[in-house]
Amino acid sequence: MSLPKITVVGAGNVGATAAHLLALKGLGNITLIDIVDGVPQGKALDIQSSAPVEGFQGRVVGSTNMEDLAGSQLIIVTAGMPRKPGMTRDDLLAANANIIGPIAEKAGKLAPDTIFMNVTNPLDVMVALVQEKSGLPQERVLGMAGVLDSARLRTFIALRLDVDPSSVDAMILGSHGDLMVPIKSSITVAGKPLSELLPDDEINALLDRAKNGGAEIVKLLKTGSAFYAPASGAVQMAEAILKDTKQILPVCAKLNGEYGLNDVCIGVPAQLGAKGVERIIEQEITDQERAELLASADQVRDMVKALENIQAKA
Ligand code: NAI
Ligand code: 2OP
Repeated sequence: MSLPKITVVGAGNVGATAAHLLALKGLGNITLIDIVDGVPQGKALDIQSSAPVEGFQGRVVGSTNMEDLAGSQLIIVTAGMPRKPGMTRDDLLAANANIIGPIAEKAGKLAPDTIFMNVTNPLDVMVALVQEKSGLPQERVLGMAGVLDSARLRTFIALRLDVDPSSVDAMILGSHGDLMVPIKSSITVAGKPLSELLPDDEINALLDRAKNGGAEIVKLLKTGSAFYAPASGAVQMAEAILKDTKQILPVCAKLNGEYGLNDVCIGVPAQLGAKGVERIIEQEITDQERAELLASADQVRDMVKALENIQAKA
């Protein structure tokens, strides 16, 4: 059976978990790449060895050679440093740009037909960097964060109301950082507005918990950051792309006038399919939410400028 080639760069917590889920779901043949010799090969062999039990047909191989991403249909990049306790996502800016830039250049040259999904933080700035360095068309470069942030919010609402999490509909847009924007006005549970089910102060507390969901896990783990739910988010997006499902998910994409924003990569609802980001959906949001989205975009622009300054000095 001919399966698409998926490359996962970074065989750490998020990358290896994503590779495992991709294999279990039979989404493709997987190449797992890392710089630490033995780690991608060992993890790939371990995942591959579960095939007879799990019943998947894909091949899973590990490598330390970045050239092995050649010819991929989908590249998921999780290479970089995770956030440590006390570190902001922005502290990772320069270190991770030096990792992501060269990977993006290589992907543009060796896998010109690929769709490139970035996961590495700071998310929105790294997506902008990939847009610039890879030379890939903008609809084929995207980032995963909104699915994760929204899943956290949906989880906390479901736990509070003791309902099936999949019946909670909620989206977090904007940047993957302190200024992310939960779209409070459109949260529903089995079609019913959340405002009819919970008082405002309780809703606000759930939104705050979701916004700080990543930091809550960093504080608990002490030596790294979340990876199960992040990997699930990346694989949900991969499935929409590889199976051309046209699912609408919150993803980081480059905007050209949508929501009044230009030339910035930020989280918005988008239809995903075989061509990548096939359509950005402009859903109705309140004036307050729009203002928050603009502030979030300004913060991403500031970080892009900060990165340009760091690179100009280097
Ligand atoms: P990790 O430390 O477990 O794994 C990172 C891996 O990248 C390591 O195995 C390391 O050897 C590898 N690596 C470093 N430089 C490399 C290079 N040049 N080429 C190939 N591999 C390289 O970290 P984890 O937890 O997997 O997180 C990875 C990234 O994802 C971090 O930047 C983290 O902040 C981010 N993240 C983003 C989320 C999102 O919602 N966008 C959610 C969770 C994590
Ligand atoms: C998170 O939200 C670290 O950005 C990552 O868990």
